[in-house]
Amino acid sequence: MNKRGAAVITGGSKGIGREISIKLASKYNILIVYKSDHVSAQETVDYVTSNGGYATSISADMTNIIEIETVTKMAVSQFGEIDVLVNNIGKNIPCSLNDITPDIWNQVIDCNLKSMFFSTKIIGKEMMKNREGVVINISSTAGIQPLPESPPYIAAKAGVIALTKYFAQVYAPIIRVNAIAPGYVLTENHKPENYSKYENVIKRIPINRMANLSEIADAVFFLTENAKYITGQTLVLDGGLCIN
Ligand SMILES: NC(=O)c1ccc[n+]([C@@H]2O[C@H](COP(=O)([O-])OP(=O)(O)OC[C@H]3O[C@@H](n4cnc5c(N)ncnc54)[C@H](OP(=O)(O)O)[C@@H]3O)[C@@H](O)[C@H]2O)c1
Repeated sequence: MNKRGAAVITGGSKGIGREISIKLASKYNILIVYKSDHVSAQETVDYVTSNGGYATSISADMTNIIEIETVTKMAVSQFGEIDVLVNNIGKNIPCSLNDITPDIWNQVIDCNLKSMFFSTKIIGKEMMKNREGVVINISSTAGIQPLPESPPYIAAKAGVIALTKYFAQVYAPIIRVNAIAPGYVLTENHKPENYSKYENVIKRIPINRMANLSEIADAVFFLTENAKYITGQTLVLDGGLCIN
């Protein structure tokens, strides 16, 4: 392991989180937190390692406060301190107003919002002890311009934007806290062959395509490394989707 800072990336094993893990590995030792897919987590760890970085992984449910504490203890014992936290886990269960159940509500709010709040509270306390830190929260344009079929997701992602401002105030000037709100990102689920609405979606995006995974990771890197005077903000990466 190199002697350098450490970054914890929740959901860092696949999709957008995997790309963030790989990008931040150029500067930090990485702890990838995933829930159950060991194969993807190991593949990402191996990829980072074979490209000269250091990464390790832990399986934990980041909606559970005890497990967030376990992850925090592991990161501190392994790396000495935590410099960067990326709250990336998220889940959408599209459903109409009539179909929403308390269970759907809780699952979506817990994964997107409760996890972000308690991870930032618990890991933020460690960062405050060390007198520095950066937190990046992955929100969504759904939290800015509502999607028709995702009320709890809209509420959760709007909550992430609001809590980004809250934590930026509470932790200033020691920890900077910012968010990214992607529109549509070209993840596996959004590839044309897997997504029946692909063409309709592209027509609504002024830049005429979805974001590449690397564009989201580059924005995380920018907010972490180059944006020393930016805190409490949400950077919208949506190809112009929310202009209209
Ligand atoms: N995809 C898009 O177009 C898009 C657009 C806007 C915003 N976003 C946001 O971007 C973020 C990443 O999205 P994605 O599509 O890349 O996600 P994804 O491919 O579904 O990956 C989710 C990751 O989170 C982990 N995870 C899920 N629940 C967890 C939990 N309770 N505890 C610990 N780890 C957990 C998963 O681990 P396992 O695989 O082990 O379960 C996996 O590593 C989300 O916040 C999403 O809302 C995505």
